[in-house]
Amino acid sequence: MTAFRAFRVEKTGEREFTRRVVERDTADLPAGDLLIDVEYSSLNYKDALSAIGNPGVTRRYPHTPGIDAAGTVVESSSNQFAPGDAAIVIGFDLGMNTPGGFGQRIRVPAGWAVPMPDGLDTRSAMILGTAGFTAALAVERLEAAGMQPDGGPVLVTGATGGVGSVAVALLASLGYEVHAATGKVSSFQYLVDLGARDVIWRQDLMKGTRRALLKAQWGGVVDTVGGPILFNAVKALRYGASLAACGLVASPDIPATVFPFILRGVNLLGIDSVELPLMRKADVWRKLAGPWKLDRLETVAFPLTLDNLSVAIDRILAGDTVGRGLVDLRA
Ligand SMILES: NC(=O)c1ccc[n+]([C@@H]2O[C@H](COP(=O)([O-])OP(=O)(O)OC[C@H]3O[C@@H](n4cnc5c(N)ncnc54)[C@H](OP(=O)(O)O)[C@@H]3O)[C@@H](O)[C@H]2O)c1
Repeated sequence: MTAFRAFRVEKTGEREFTRRVVERDTADLPAGDLLIDVEYSSLNYKDALSAIGNPGVTRRYPHTPGIDAAGTVVESSSNQFAPGDAAIVIGFDLGMNTPGGFGQRIRVPAGWAVPMPDGLDTRSAMILGTAGFTAALAVERLEAAGMQPDGGPVLVTGATGGVGSVAVALLASLGYEVHAATGKVSSFQYLVDLGARDVIWRQDLMKGTRRALLKAQWGGVVDTVGGPILFNAVKALRYGASLAACGLVASPDIPATVFPFILRGVNLLGIDSVELPLMRKADVWRKLAGPWKLDRLETVAFPLTLDNLSVAIDRILAGDTVGRGLVDLRA
């Protein structure tokens, strides 16, 4: 096969973009060590930003988004991979300015690809995808900073989203008391089924924004939303506890003071899944395939194909999706 299908975003005006599924040729892909037949990708918030022309994500159009891909190597000039090997590619430039996982084929540097660890396959790896990987990285960083199951409840914001859903499930499976914050009344049972002990309404986390400190309650926080919710959560950390900042769906701005840091010794941890060195990526994937393997992973997935991706992109931009959109690219 040299022709393949891809979801393509085209620039039609100063700020106008269209999306359609097109046929592409393998020869159009950029140079790289690995040609991969993509079996699954997944929908991340960043893919939606790429699809609406956000220049912080993608500068060159036409473009095929998709920051995640898992599939089978068909050509390799690297001694790290042979044809037939299964591989995971997340982050680096995939789907940003390099044609991404919303195409049935990608060509990438070997330095972007992780061999599929025993315990995962292309489907389960992409249900996790960047969002699930980021949730695991956040939990790993929080534990390295001292978070423990007996150190108090752990808050997850944007809990029904991709990062949030996996964070809730992972923390619960590790024995943490998870408090899941959401804006979706209808998703209470979903969050309880994932393992949340308590579900909090998003608006309640906005209270007390003018105060220097709030009642210390969280033993740790996985934040995916940013803005005033992030810093209110910092103000409510227990002494010495940490918040892992993953995202910005509410706002990239943080209304911060130094008080929680100098009065409670709390930590603000930055989480980056994109440029994390490949060896560290492989470590986290091995954890997700082994000791941190989630048995309820399928419950967070909803199925997508290239043909209904555009509708799902609009929904994720509206903060309206629940769980992880798994994109099936198998012909
Ligand atoms: N640092 C990294 O390496 C990294 C990796 C992956 C993702 N991210 C970032 O993490 C964030 C979440 O990504 P995702 O893929 O999980 O996105 P997602 O699936 O769209 O989830 C985001 C969730 O946030 C909540 N939300 C939406 N709009 C909100 C608003 N205005 N205020 C407060 N909460 C809101 C919603 O959940 P509820 O209705 O349940 O509240 C929504 O489902 C994004 O900003 C993404 O770019 C960063």
